[in-house]
Amino acid sequence: MKVSIEKVVFGGKGLSRLKEKVCFVPFTLPEEVVEVEIKEEKKSICEGFPVDVLEKNPYRVEPKCKYYMQCGGCDFQHINYEKQVEIKKEILEETLQRIGKINKDTDKVIPSANPFNYRNRVQFKFDGKNFGFYKLKSNEVVDIESCDIADKNINNLIPTLKNLAKNNPQVEELHIFHHPDNKPMLKIVLKENLFMNIENLLDTFAGIGVYIGNKRVKLEGKSFTFYRAGKFNYRVSIDSFFQVNKYQLENIVDEVISEIPKDSQCIGDIYCGVGLFTLPASKKAKKVFGIEASKSAVKDAQYNVKVHNIGNAKFYQKVVEKSADIIFGYNPDTLIFDPPRTGIPKNIIQKLLQLKSLKRIIYVSCNPSTASRDINLLSEKFELKKVKLIDMFPQTHHIESIFVLDKV
Ligand SMILES: C[S@@+](CC[C@H](N)C(=O)[O-])C[C@H]1O[C@@H](n2cnc3c(N)ncnc32)[C@H](O)[C@@H]1O
Repeated sequence: MKVSIEKVVFGGKGLSRLKEKVCFVPFTLPEEVVEVEIKEEKKSICEGFPVDVLEKNPYRVEPKCKYYMQCGGCDFQHINYEKQVEIKKEILEETLQRIGKINKDTDKVIPSANPFNYRNRVQFKFDGKNFGFYKLKSNEVVDIESCDIADKNINNLIPTLKNLAKNNPQVEELHIFHHPDNKPMLKIVLKENLFMNIENLLDTFAGIGVYIGNKRVKLEGKSFTFYRAGKFNYRVSIDSFFQVNKYQLENIVDEVISEIPKDSQCIGDIYCGVGLFTLPASKKAKKVFGIEASKSAVKDAQYNVKVHNIGNAKFYQKVVEKSADIIFGYNPDTLIFDPPRTGIPKNIIQKLLQLKSLKRIIYVSCNPSTASRDINLLSEKFELKKVKLIDMFPQTHHIESIFVLDKV
């Protein structure tokens, strides 16, 4: 079937209109005419796979990766990088309008200095035979020899990792944490608790953690690494979250910290991880506090403030849903939020509307839909002042943005 693509929508797929249906087609661009194979069909929508592009958009480029359209990782490699960012900006503004009910242009766009080889950590899958990444919409694994968005040193290790998996069929996943100056760290996830000799891996890796599901069953060497961003060197444990794009790490910190008001007295960093924003924020106010669910991230954050001689920061290991009392106890004037894809819990939004001391919210989001929902709820008392798009995930449809909201 032949379809014409109108625009690229949230999720990265091209939208086309058939007589009574909307058809979503991945790997396409606006104004393209595409021959599609219908893969899924529902009452009012269907999903097609492009088998031939009959009329091409001028921004279409040859994908660099030989596994493109098989591997479920990247979905924007067919688009020139500047155009990828432009499409993300359009989607961000459209989502803010549709869900947030706010008309606001993006104030600043920060592309990644290098749109390839940016990932400093990667999770490889192994199915007993193939080593690589899940296929598009499947739990089958595409066997790969290289990954164009992973750091070059991670690519150099792929043969070693592949051998390791093939000699140990109980391996399900290998997570590699690259470090620019030190040996990398390796997390091995096994299907079941079978013996695995990992001591001989210490020549290649600084630390190796063995897991069954989420539970660590063995550790050799170090369980953490360090990443530098600006003035601070952050300890990041094998179980802690950390930003994956090495070219955007300093930029995201600068873009958040530069939005802290000059006269700020107390700042809360909600979903603080290892303290990426808390440490520099501590220099901008009398007091800072961080809230984070992960035990290992809170331990890292506590270590990170200690080694940097920061005496005005405190961290709480608690889920944000149950942390309204902590937030209220501080009477903060500024709150930084960097939640997972689900956004800020509704009970917390309701509380923020009652928090008299709160003047500014700096909202870092990896999901424009939930952020727009939250901004809409907050608009009862807060006005959206600034929108920034920072491209943390080139070659994919994922959109990272920073919203600045002020009490009206
Ligand atoms: C997107 S990361 C941001 C971390 C940090 N701001 C950074 O940039 O490194 C979200 C963090 O929220 C934490 N998290 C997830 N769900 C949570 C919850 N319900 N309550 C508290 N923290 C949570 C995760 O462990 C993760 O560290």
